[in-house]
Amino acid sequence: MKPSPLWASEPFWKKVAIWVTSGSFIVLITLTFHSMSEVVAGSQRVPAYSVINQKIDYRFDNTKNRFQPVIGDEQPLFGKKLSETEAEALVALGKKTTQAKNCMNCHTILGNGAYYAPDLTKAWLDPGWIDEANREAQMLTFLKDPPNHARTFGSGRRMPQLDITDEEAHGVVAFLKWMSTIDTNGFPHNFKTLTAQE
Ligand code: HEC
Repeated sequence: MKPSPLWASEPFWKKVAIWVTSGSFIVLITLTFHSMSEVVAGSQRVPAYSVINQKIDYRFDNTKNRFQPVIGDEQPLFGKKLSETEAEALVALGKKTTQAKNCMNCHTILGNGAYYAPDLTKAWLDPGWIDEANREAQMLTFLKDPPNHARTFGSGRRMPQLDITDEEAHGVVAFLKWMSTIDTNGFPHNFKTLTAQE
C-alpha cells in the first residue's frame, strides 16, 4: 500500500494544531496587553484624570480627516486645581452616578446606550453650553433640575428629575469633561463645537 502523503497524515495535523493554537495564543496575549495600555487613563488616547484641570477644545485635524480633542492651557474645573488622585476620585464618583441613575437608558456613552437623548461622549464640548467660562455652573444647574432648565434641542424631549445630589453633579461634570478628552476617532461623527471649522 502507498504511504499516505504528509498533508494527509495524522501527526502532521497534530503538529499544525499545536503550532496554530500556540501562535494564536501569543498573538491574543500580546493584543490584550497592547489594548490595555491603549485604554488605561494616562495613555495617549485616554488622558490622565487630572486633564480636567486643562481647557479642552475640539478641532478638525486635516491629516486625520476627523475631529480631535485638543488639550489646552490650565483651566481647572470649578476653579480648583486637583491632584491626580483627587481628580480620579471625582471622575469615579461621576461614572458611578451615571451607572446608578442609568443615564444610558436614554443617552449614549462611548458608543454604549440609547439614542433617545443626546450622545454624552462629547457633551462637555456641546455648543449648547454657550457661556464658555460658566459651562460647569450651567451643567450643574441643569443636572440638578433638568425639567426646569431644558436645553434647546427642538426635539421636545425633556430630561426627568433624577434627584442628583450636589456632590454627584460635580462628579458627573468631571466625568463628562474627562470623557470629552478621549480620542474616539471622531465619534460621534456628527458632533460639532461652536468654533469648529467645517
Ligand atoms: C429618561 C431619559 C433620560 C435619562 C435617564 C437621562 N437623561 Fe439626560 N437628557 C435627556 C433628554 C431628553 C435631554 C435633552 C433635554 C433638553 O433638551 O432639555 C437630556 C440632556 C442631557 C444633557 C445635555 C446634553 C448636551 O449635549 O448638552 C446632559 C449633560 C445630560 N442629559 C446628562 C444626563 C446624565 C448625567 C444622566 C444620568 C445621571 C441623564 N442625563 C439621564 C434624557 C435623559
